[in-house]
Amino acid sequence: MSGQGRLVLVTGGASGIGRAVARAFAEAGDRPVLADVDGPAAEKAAAEIGAASVTMDVTDAASVQSALAGVTAAHGRVEVLVNNAGIVAGGGPLAELPVEVFDRVVAVNLRGTFLVTRAVAGQMIASGRGGCVVNVSSAGARQPTAGLGHYEATKAAVEALTRSTALELAPHGIRANAVAPGPVLTPMTAGLMADPRARAAWESRIPLGRIAATDDVTPLVLFLASAAAAHITGVVVPVDGGQLLT
Ligand SMILES: NC(=O)c1ccc[n+]([C@@H]2O[C@H](COP(=O)([O-])OP(=O)(O)OC[C@H]3O[C@@H](n4cnc5c(N)ncnc54)[C@H](O)[C@@H]3O)[C@@H](O)[C@H]2O)c1
Repeated sequence: MSGQGRLVLVTGGASGIGRAVARAFAEAGDRPVLADVDGPAAEKAAAEIGAASVTMDVTDAASVQSALAGVTAAHGRVEVLVNNAGIVAGGGPLAELPVEVFDRVVAVNLRGTFLVTRAVAGQMIASGRGGCVVNVSSAGARQPTAGLGHYEATKAAVEALTRSTALELAPHGIRANAVAPGPVLTPMTAGLMADPRARAAWESRIPLGRIAATDDVTPLVLFLASAAAAHITGVVVPVDGGQLLT
């Protein structure tokens, strides 16, 4: 990893949206660190985009603390945090959903966002030099799809956390915002999108008529983390081809 840009910690950075976000920050001259529970995958992705990586399980407070300590020792303080790690873990009607699936999704999407924000915000406050947080929500936080209730509830909670983070950290010069993508082509959705009928059903809900690519999402994350967004905090911005209009 080289360059003089900001140190950007991207959770879930080994794949999909996180990987694309990290690559976009690297291309903009920043210094991304890909933090992922899959350490070898993060290392491989980091090598491909000229970034650094660290193994971090966002559900585990000790893992978050030790990974962050390692990142800080090796690269300096985190200036931008992208809380992207997230899972769906299958799904189904709430009346039948296995409790373990619910708990697992809450642990990664909600507890993970809290734990990493808590650790990084503490460091940002102590530095006295501000920073910013971008959380990755989902259009599903506001528009339900049958069978995804467990996942959508965690994303609605991430949006609430985004607002609390913004309010509480504003006095420290730390901004917090979220992006809310509609469906995006990534390894998470690859199976679903390979089924032409399922894909067509999702596309029919999107006024702009197509499933997003990861690079439909990355410019918004970079903007929210940029000086151009210096007076924007506590917002959730959809990037969903108009899905929430329907
Ligand atoms: N793909 C979509 O359609 C879509 C739409 C809206 C929102 N999102 C959100 O975007 C984010 C990224 O999704 P994606 O589609 O790129 O998924 P993905 O499956 O391609 O990548 C997710 C990454 O998170 C990592 N991860 C999982 N559990 C972790 C943990 N405990 N600790 C650290 N890392 C962990 C995985 O190893 C993987 O590298 C998620 O928060 C997801 O909910 C995705």
